[in-house]
Amino acid sequence: MANISLVGLKQELADEKFFIVDEKLVDLYTSELDFLKDKHVLTLKDPESHKSMASFEKCLNFFLAAQITRSDRIVAIGGGALSDLAGFVASTILRGIDWIVVPTTLLSIIDASIGGKTGINSKYGKNLIGAFHMPVKSFVCLEFLNTLPKIEQDSGRGELTKYAFLDKSVYAALKENDLDRTIDLCRRCKEEIVEKDFKEGGERAKLNLGHTFGHAVEKITGIPHGIAVAIGLEMVLDLYSDHLRDELVWMKSTLELDYELPQKLNAQKFWELLFMDKKRKGDELMFIIPKEIGDVEYRYLNLEQLKQGLSSHDKYKSFFA
Ligand SMILES: NC(=O)c1ccc[n+]([C@@H]2O[C@H](COP(=O)([O-])OP(=O)(O)OC[C@H]3O[C@@H](n4cnc5c(N)ncnc54)[C@H](O)[C@@H]3O)[C@@H](O)[C@H]2O)c1
Repeated sequence: MANISLVGLKQELADEKFFIVDEKLVDLYTSELDFLKDKHVLTLKDPESHKSMASFEKCLNFFLAAQITRSDRIVAIGGGALSDLAGFVASTILRGIDWIVVPTTLLSIIDASIGGKTGINSKYGKNLIGAFHMPVKSFVCLEFLNTLPKIEQDSGRGELTKYAFLDKSVYAALKENDLDRTIDLCRRCKEEIVEKDFKEGGERAKLNLGHTFGHAVEKITGIPHGIAVAIGLEMVLDLYSDHLRDELVWMKSTLELDYELPQKLNAQKFWELLFMDKKRKGDELMFIIPKEIGDVEYRYLNLEQLKQGLSSHDKYKSFFA
């Protein structure tokens, strides 16, 4: 990992030949990305819509037609959706080649670009097709965040609250309101967890804090991923770690993260989505529950108990009314 300026990025990538880039960035950073003009560049508009079989195939054909070889690398410049797709292409083309990631959203800088999870969506759900394939390099250029819309900033900041609960040093940096350092420490936190548990057999699961409820809320409401994670985290705290509730309150205020809880959710859809969660075992779902800052518990919770807990909680019973 290296923090780099836009000028430095241009120098680092000067010799690379194969790129997948978010089209928005090509428009926003015309002069900074002008080194792309002599390269093989596939630009994608609205990258989330390209996490599909059709776009995956399109990418493979694009690079094969450009005669990519096993000693080449694919460079992904964009947010998490784009790097998920680009990493998956790199993991399969010519039976797998190296790739480099340049994350350009806060969410991808602190989360999606780290740890080598790559993939696309299926009609059966998000990220169901993919591979573990680590990028060989990652360049973090915080200057990209200057053009990130507020809603995408909030999505990254929502995901960031998860790290502040998981890691005491992230918590401390955020308390000091040092956002650049907080971002660095979030990255380090994820890198250390992934180093110990690459394929999510154990500790990596704790990165799912807030995600079980969060994914269901995201799917039903269309709220950006990181904001849904913060909502999922808030629900877990309200139900199982009430003593830590105020910690999320100050984090949201420091981060100027002012989301609204959904007014109403489709209860049947919500429970269906929880039931489809990858971490379900029989009638139980694995939840990550903060015990203290920097310490979590892994608890299997029965779906019926969860239903009762949420539908009898003052704050949430109106969700399902
Ligand atoms: N692989 C992982 O470990 C992992 C972890 C978390 C999330 N994800 C995936 O990441 C995706 C969400 O990440 P994301 O929010 O970064 O997605 P994204 O790539 O869709 O980017 C969000 C939006 O920001 C725009 N954008 C990107 N950089 C910009 C910039 N610098 N300035 C202005 N606009 C910019 C994009 O065009 C897009 O509209 C999801 O697909 C999710 O499944 C993956």
